[in-house]
Amino acid sequence: MKILGLIGSRRKLGNTEIIVKEIARNCMEKGAEVNFIRLSDLKIESCSGCMQCVFKASPCPLKDDFYFLLEKIKEAEGIILGTPTYLLAPSGIIKLILDRLYIANSKDRKNFLNKKAVTFAIAGIKNWAPLSLPLLNLFPLFLNFKLIYSFILYAPGPGEILLDKEYLKETKIAGELLIKGEDNVLTLSNSCPICKGAFFIFKEQNQIECPFCQIKGEIKQSKIVFPSISEHRFTYASLENHTENWVKATEGSFQNHLKEILALRKPYKEMDKFFIKPPSFKINEEYQNNLSKALLFFEAVNEKNWDKLLDGFSQEACLIFPGSAPLSGIYRGKEEIKRYFRRMNIAVPNLKFIIKEVFNHSHSIIIEWENHGLTRKRKNYNNQGITILKLKAGKIIYLRDYLDTEQLKQ
Ligand SMILES: Cc1cc2nc3c(=O)[nH]c(=O)nc-3n(C[C@H](O)[C@H](O)[C@H](O)COP(=O)(O)O)c2cc1C
Repeated sequence: MKILGLIGSRRKLGNTEIIVKEIARNCMEKGAEVNFIRLSDLKIESCSGCMQCVFKASPCPLKDDFYFLLEKIKEAEGIILGTPTYLLAPSGIIKLILDRLYIANSKDRKNFLNKKAVTFAIAGIKNWAPLSLPLLNLFPLFLNFKLIYSFILYAPGPGEILLDKEYLKETKIAGELLIKGEDNVLTLSNSCPICKGAFFIFKEQNQIECPFCQIKGEIKQSKIVFPSISEHRFTYASLENHTENWVKATEGSFQNHLKEILALRKPYKEMDKFFIKPPSFKINEEYQNNLSKALLFFEAVNEKNWDKLLDGFSQEACLIFPGSAPLSGIYRGKEEIKRYFRRMNIAVPNLKFIIKEVFNHSHSIIIEWENHGLTRKRKNYNNQGITILKLKAGKIIYLRDYLDTEQLKQ
């Protein structure tokens, strides 16, 4: 059995990591294959709310590690998910991931169906973690995992959990149940049997409802009982119904009112001038802008679109090509740069660049590439190198290539 341990704390060898590993150890003893992911090692962007994953069933446009995480979850049969408690709730990385789950939920919900999960939260002190389990459990519940077992342990300092051997009891149960795939046998008393939270809304008479799962219960002799646990927010049918009949329908009603909404939004757009942003935002925006211009340059070379290419250079730009080949030298100004690219195109008429890596250094963009093509004499040409680009006001002012000049001799 493949088990994936997901660690929701940044603290190395902290309590969450130790408990994930201890449950995993129990599973390994029963022959399980184990891998861990520290969730904070992943680059997870916050959901941009574009809704493309639901409305168009298209891939998420955010370029980060979310799909890596989904793939690893798909490969596993069982998940161990642990979080520290921060401000009464799971750590922020858990919420970032929860917000992105629509991708999985709307598109390939069946891929996750009936995978098994055990979850736990660590808290520093009793009664200060009311939201930790119910929010954490949205992860397995929203993906229709079988939530096998869920528990809370208490320890403030990193690794302090090891001082009280109580943790061994919970981790043993969790490991055994995960391997067996059996349902939770030890539901905490007076807690929700689905999300394991302990919040309830009072309805009429002795009726109550869990606001997370919408499961209905009754108070009988000072105890909460749940007549049925098969009806709640997170059943496969209920989630499917929510996505298909409510979320997807919001697109049409929004489009129908779009003109009106755009007009009503106008005065709020005018207030954009009051936004304040940290200096790093400006630097990042400038970098993103420069990067897209640098990539456009390589696109233009590959397309042999010389107008687009020259448009990317400033009037006084400087281009330096290394070595002692006929093309080598310093080219100043757009006219000379145009001459350089004409000659390059004659030397290797179908030269194509593949970008391997992009580095950001101060005001420079550094691009590592590989190129290939056929020379005029129909010989294979292949090289690797880096290009340093400096940009100002969206135009390239300096371009310098570093490459294997030996390859140029052919
Ligand atoms: C920013 C922060 C907020 C915390 N908030 C709570 C809290 O609300 N309730 C609680 O019981 N413990 C809280 N704690 C304590 C942690 O849950 C506790 O230290 C836990 O052991 C951390 O797990 P870790 O070692 O895996 O990181 C907080 C700790 C930090 C750093």
